[in-house]
Amino acid sequence: MNKSEMIEKLRDYLPERRMVHSMNVAKSAMELCDIYGGDREKAEIAGILHDVAKYVKFSDVESYCHKYGIELDDIEKTNTSLSHSILGMYIAKNEFGIDDDEILNAIRFHTTGRPAMSLLEKIIFIADVVEVGRDYPGVDVVRELAFGGELEEAIVHSIDGTISVVLSKKAVLHTRTVEARNYYVKLIKDREKARNSVVI
Ligand SMILES: [Fe+2]
Ligand SMILES: [Fe+2]
Repeated sequence: MNKSEMIEKLRDYLPERRMVHSMNVAKSAMELCDIYGGDREKAEIAGILHDVAKYVKFSDVESYCHKYGIELDDIEKTNTSLSHSILGMYIAKNEFGIDDDEILNAIRFHTTGRPAMSLLEKIIFIADVVEVGRDYPGVDVVRELAFGGELEEAIVHSIDGTISVVLSKKAVLHTRTVEARNYYVKLIKDREKARNSVVI
């Protein structure tokens, strides 16, 4: 399936508003590739397809899981904001013919992140929250960090914002989000320490 066929097919899954978001994410992801040296082609595909399962109804989640042998954890089972990234990976694989593990994992982890993400995973994670249509308190800071060469700092900042929102809603926070945050906070600290010790 070529790119325009993929976009046409995606229209069967997403409303126009989400199509626009998906194309914006693909564009931001390619721009981030130019900065960080990622694969633009993979980033574009991952961006286009990352939210393919966003409009799967909660009542249909179980049948998708059965169909594709998907195992959701207890938190994902109750929350389509979390399960859509996992389901999306399987839909991208089985219904769009994507067999590239890097692209599939970028889709799979775009909501929670995870420790030690690949470059493409990080790029899609951040492109999703900085694309041009995004407008939430703090988006400018995440954008500046992301497009200013500080990708991991952008990730931590974005996760901090997500955690605040989740807490204020008294919603359930996925443990993988916390693990991702801790991993990147430590990575940034260690990098600063190493930088300082070189100066001394
Ligand atoms: Fe998403
Ligand atoms: Fe998204």
